[in-house]
Amino acid sequence: AAADVRDTLGRPLRDLRLSVIEACNFRCPYCMPAERVPDDHGFDAQQRLSFDEIETLVRGFVRAGVTKLRLTGGEPLLRKRLPDLVARLSRIESLTDIALTTNGSLLAAQASALRAAGLGRITVSLDALDPALFHSLSGGRGQVADVLAGIQAAQAAGFDPIKLNCVVQRGVNEDEVLPLVEFARANGHVMRFIEYMDVGTCNGWRRERVLASANLRDRIHARWPLQSLEAQYRGEVASRYGFVDGRGEVGFVSSVSEPFCGDCHRARVSADGRLYTCLFAASGHDLRPLLADGEEALSQHLAQRWSRRGDRYSELRGSSSAPHKHVEMYLVGG
Ligand code: GTP
Ligand code: 5AD
Ligand code: SF4
Ligand code: SF4
Repeated sequence: AAADVRDTLGRPLRDLRLSVIEACNFRCPYCMPAERVPDDHGFDAQQRLSFDEIETLVRGFVRAGVTKLRLTGGEPLLRKRLPDLVARLSRIESLTDIALTTNGSLLAAQASALRAAGLGRITVSLDALDPALFHSLSGGRGQVADVLAGIQAAQAAGFDPIKLNCVVQRGVNEDEVLPLVEFARANGHVMRFIEYMDVGTCNGWRRERVLASANLRDRIHARWPLQSLEAQYRGEVASRYGFVDGRGEVGFVSSVSEPFCGDCHRARVSADGRLYTCLFAASGHDLRPLLADGEEALSQHLAQRWSRRGDRYSELRGSSSAPHKHVEMYLVGG
């Protein structure tokens, strides 16, 4: 059956990251640098999958084995009537987990509607607490106070725990790490630190800017002792550590220092319906023409494609066989 499909490295398809919009109201330099991505960036709304198409798409993926869905962007809360979409997707049987990754700036107004629609989990990007640094890391577009209000509203709406993602760059926001941990511990959130990655083509990535997770872990451990925790599911991206004092946990996503391709069960689809079998894939495969044939035909097609997948970019990074051209991060939502 389509649901048992394995790729060429034996990995099943379990996880779908679906971008609902390619636009973003931030211009984080590591993702959509303002000088490279114009203000009016975005294809016209016509090119985005409709909610009907998205529902067919997700049902096709579920038939092919997906049980987890994460909605991303760009900034997904810019997509009109997102709670209506969530309500439709939350009725799909065997989809056991629906989550959202957002920059949080528009969350205060939408958190309770998303909760009521059946959204299960929220992850908010938070690179700094210092207002000036936050503002600069958002490309001069965001205010940390709005994001904090969004996080608070999400908690009040019943999302618990909320995960907070911080991309750490050496010499840029490394001094925010301990204050972020303190903030997360005090408020019951799960703080996660992500190694700065060479995604896309326009962020001017330099390896010297990467701060390895082991280094951060030591710094945090020196202040609040940590003990390692078991993964919550096979292929969990973050490695988890609990505070010995029992007050919460932190996670580390270490794609550069400790690649996790061996357990990568994720497919990504852009807002215009292209399938990417790796975050670093050079190009996508247009699924849109298949949607008219319905979910069963789509799932057969996906199984066929997946069975040919051999992506493992993070394990090849730096070697001569690693692909050079990559899809932009903002098209596939991280
Ligand atoms: P959970 O379901 O809560 O475990 O979510 P998650 O950690 O998979 O999702 P999230 O959006 O929080 O991912 C955190 C970050 O990890 C993303 O923003 C990416 O930067 C990175 N990431 C996620 N999946 C992959 C992947 O397959 N490969 C690589 N290289 N990085 C990934
Ligand atoms: N390296 C690591 N993470 C990144 N993200 C965006 N660009 C990068 C990068 N170059 C993350 C954001 C957010 C998610 C959508 O993707 O921080 O958590
Ligand atoms: Fe927007 Fe997220 Fe990219 Fe920042 S990382 S520019 S918030 S899509
Ligand atoms: Fe999966 Fe590609 Fe990330 Fe490896 S680099 S974990 S194959 S998305």
